[in-house]
Amino acid sequence: MLHPDIKEVLYSEEEISAVVKDLGAQLTKEYEGKNPLVIGVLKGAVMFMTDLSRAMNCDLELDFMDVSSYGAGMESSGDVKILKDLDTTVDGRDLLIVEDIIDTGRTLSYLIEIFKYRKAKSIKVVTLMDKKERRVVDLEADYIGINVPNEFVVGYGLDFNEKYRNLPYIGILKTEVYE
Ligand code: PRP
Ligand code: MN
Ligand code: MG
Repeated sequence: MLHPDIKEVLYSEEEISAVVKDLGAQLTKEYEGKNPLVIGVLKGAVMFMTDLSRAMNCDLELDFMDVSSYGAGMESSGDVKILKDLDTTVDGRDLLIVEDIIDTGRTLSYLIEIFKYRKAKSIKVVTLMDKKERRVVDLEADYIGINVPNEFVVGYGLDFNEKYRNLPYIGILKTEVYE
């Protein structure tokens, strides 16, 4: 049953699952024998991270980072703040940053700077979705699941005012919900 606030399903549960399995297979090759630290960016990346890590057939460790940029608004401010840091030392580690979506690119460019400063051995980014039209800083993910149009998408981790993260699909929000 479609949530009443959703205008249209952009990616079904089955379509997401196929994309995640494909990314998992590619990342298995990349990280075989490397025991990467897989870093989920809270909270949006949680659903993707749990599915993706189970599609990676290699040793890995999980950790989380929580940064704020959007707050309750619609657009990131460029002002990124660490709300929860990693528990793991990244010095000398191969890092895989997991994001649900890249929009302006500000969150990731900030995280990459931090991890470079902390002397990571390598840093790669996997994102389920990429909204390239909205990019403000020069940033490219290493692995991209889906290129999405410039619409307000929610579900599978993505929220609007903290709601809709638990939808199993990715949908476009009706404009009257956020206007
Ligand atoms: C969203 C999304 C990315 C980030 C992308 O997170 O999950 O982390 O914004 O935007 P950017 O490329 O413009 O920086 P948000 O800050 O809304 O937090 P959330 O994951 O807890 O929803
Ligand atoms: Mn996020
Ligand atoms: Mg958000």
